[in-house]
Amino acid sequence: MTQYFTEEGSVQAVNDRMGPNINPRLAVVMAALVKHLHAFAKEVHLTQAEWDYGIDFLTKTGQICSAERQEFILLSDTLGFSMLVDAINNRRPEGATENTVFGPFHVDGVPVREMGANISLDGKGESCLFEGRVVDLAGNPIAGARVDVWSDNADGFYDVQQPSIQPQHNNRGVFITGADGRYSFVGIKPVSYPIPDDGPVGQMLGHLGRHPYRPAHMHYLVTADGFERLVTHTFVGGDKYLESDAVFGVKTTLIAPFNRVEGGATLWHSPFDFVLTPA
Ligand code: BEZ
Ligand code: FE
Repeated sequence: MTQYFTEEGSVQAVNDRMGPNINPRLAVVMAALVKHLHAFAKEVHLTQAEWDYGIDFLTKTGQICSAERQEFILLSDTLGFSMLVDAINNRRPEGATENTVFGPFHVDGVPVREMGANISLDGKGESCLFEGRVVDLAGNPIAGARVDVWSDNADGFYDVQQPSIQPQHNNRGVFITGADGRYSFVGIKPVSYPIPDDGPVGQMLGHLGRHPYRPAHMHYLVTADGFERLVTHTFVGGDKYLESDAVFGVKTTLIAPFNRVEGGATLWHSPFDFVLTPA
């Protein structure tokens, strides 16, 4: 007998409609999504006005998206969902460097630079030498590792946010390790900055009494043949936003030393080793 939709039987009514020959993973994911979505509405007794507001919010989130702006990723990030999916998919053994959120500001096609090169092209900010080794779990150096780095400038903006102000590829570089597994480059001591907050996600944060700031960090994408891809940051210890990162990206193991250097070629020195997990 046909089962018409009822409040009690809502999940079954929807999930029973799935055809017999659909992708089995799709069936699992969608059945759970419907189950939890309906449970959410029932738990909070969602009003019609609230759901209309939700639809309007999602519509605005889509409408502000462009080639340069991905508001849905910001939504996922600020709800802790990006970090949750990342954690589920990157469970690593003790000693391996932890992942964190990728963020929207990575750029492909950044030039490979000489080891030790200066990536700060706008001359702003406090210079910092970043250096360390890329090693395996046993501490052996990994040769040929690709260390792709990016940070904001001293004003708290990535080059892609200010294409007519900053030089292209400002505070970005790719470095390839030699036999010793070492990398080094000169950048700036990064500064904390707000994630783009002039859209619906920024409004949501405001309504929730949350600020949009990320603690200062240097981004790394480290890849090497035979090893898991590492997407991470190093965070500047002591930053006032470490415990309230708008996107929940901070992990204790990723807080790096930033040591003041007296009379050196750079003002700061930040040593950090990356430990990769076998693929
Ligand atoms: C970032 O660190 O670049 C970032 C991460 C998530 C959202 C916005 C920015
Ligand atoms: Fe960032």
